[in-house]
Amino acid sequence: MGLNTLGRLIVFSFFGESHGRLVGSLIQGFPAGLRVDGDRIRLSLSRRRAGYGSTARVEEDSFEILTGVFKGFTTGAPLLIVVWNTDIDPGFYERIRSTPRPSHVDYPYRVRYGGFNDYRGGGFSSGRFTAGWVAAGSLAAQVLERKGVRIYAHVTRIGRASYRGEPSEDDLKRVYESPVRCVDPDASRMMMREIDEASREGDSVGGVVECRIYGVPPGVGDPLLEGLDVELARAAMSIPGVKGVEFGKGFEASCMRGSVFNDELTVRDARVEVAGFSDGGVVGGVSTGSMIVFRAAFKPTPSIARVQRTVNLEEMRSVNLDLSGGRFDICIAPRAVPVVEAVSAMVLVDHYARAGLVGRVVKD
Ligand SMILES: Cc1cc2nc3c(=O)[nH]c(=O)nc-3n(C[C@H](O)[C@H](O)[C@H](O)COP(=O)(O)O)c2cc1C
Repeated sequence: MGLNTLGRLIVFSFFGESHGRLVGSLIQGFPAGLRVDGDRIRLSLSRRRAGYGSTARVEEDSFEILTGVFKGFTTGAPLLIVVWNTDIDPGFYERIRSTPRPSHVDYPYRVRYGGFNDYRGGGFSSGRFTAGWVAAGSLAAQVLERKGVRIYAHVTRIGRASYRGEPSEDDLKRVYESPVRCVDPDASRMMMREIDEASREGDSVGGVVECRIYGVPPGVGDPLLEGLDVELARAAMSIPGVKGVEFGKGFEASCMRGSVFNDELTVRDARVEVAGFSDGGVVGGVSTGSMIVFRAAFKPTPSIARVQRTVNLEEMRSVNLDLSGGRFDICIAPRAVPVVEAVSAMVLVDHYARAGLVGRVVKD
């Protein structure tokens, strides 16, 4: 139960566990004829692997595409991608088996799955699981790029440090040069300080990842419950650790006047242009042709080095939980940047197929 699936015509399914043999994805309905760029997949996986303040767990992230590729091109048959786990440490989780980590899935999943869930590192609800998303998202992005779509995520906040500027596309292209994945060097330094301070105090810290999508023409998306924004929000919300998603001005819109908020229409070079990004590039579930902008708010990493209160479920009493010896990210946001890009690419490629903009065979 729980289908772990995204998309309607191009359908992405995910599987694996944090401390099992592998994580991965199955893609059905993917167009034939894409020359698979393995280096691109490797690059995306390496960007997810490490960010400033990330875990001591180091995975090689060696992946294999087991089906659906022949002579270097996708065949249109289901694609099965696996990313092997090598650096697992199940022993640590045996020690904390009966003492659920606050704000992690340990307690609710134990109830939900009658105690049969793989509790090591959150099982399938873990940061590790998202390696399979990133590999699949990289293939989706390779299709979209041929259609002129460019997807960039970047960190706009870590704790008290924020970046409020308007990044150019060139800034966004270089964002992985920043250890915290922020386009501004001064803000990056302040964000690193936030992570260092949390780390010194045995704590973790939250952050915001913004996604900017260029090159989507007007008219992509379906209305209401299947809206492009609805499905992007669903996908972003499913990234472990995300507690909020907003488009364009988002929550700030609630204290604005329409005369200030509204994205006015103009004509430029005989084409309609929607000026401004208040709506985040989607209205009524359908793209307006302006840049798509949304943000995902990540909570502070639940596993922290400080002693916290929890319960011992065998003895049914309150106890202290000491997670020392565990390997955790101080801040999720920098590592989540390629994950946000990946979910965006997966949702968008499916909507492109629904709109007839991606066919059964990829053509340049
Ligand atoms: C890339 C990434 C890395 C993560 N690393 C950790 C970690 O080291 N420790 C931890 O407790 N949670 C980590 N998380 C978050 C948990 O997996 C997440 O909080 C948990 O599954 C509960 O889901 P929820 O917070 O969305 O409700 C990570 C998430 C992502 C996306």
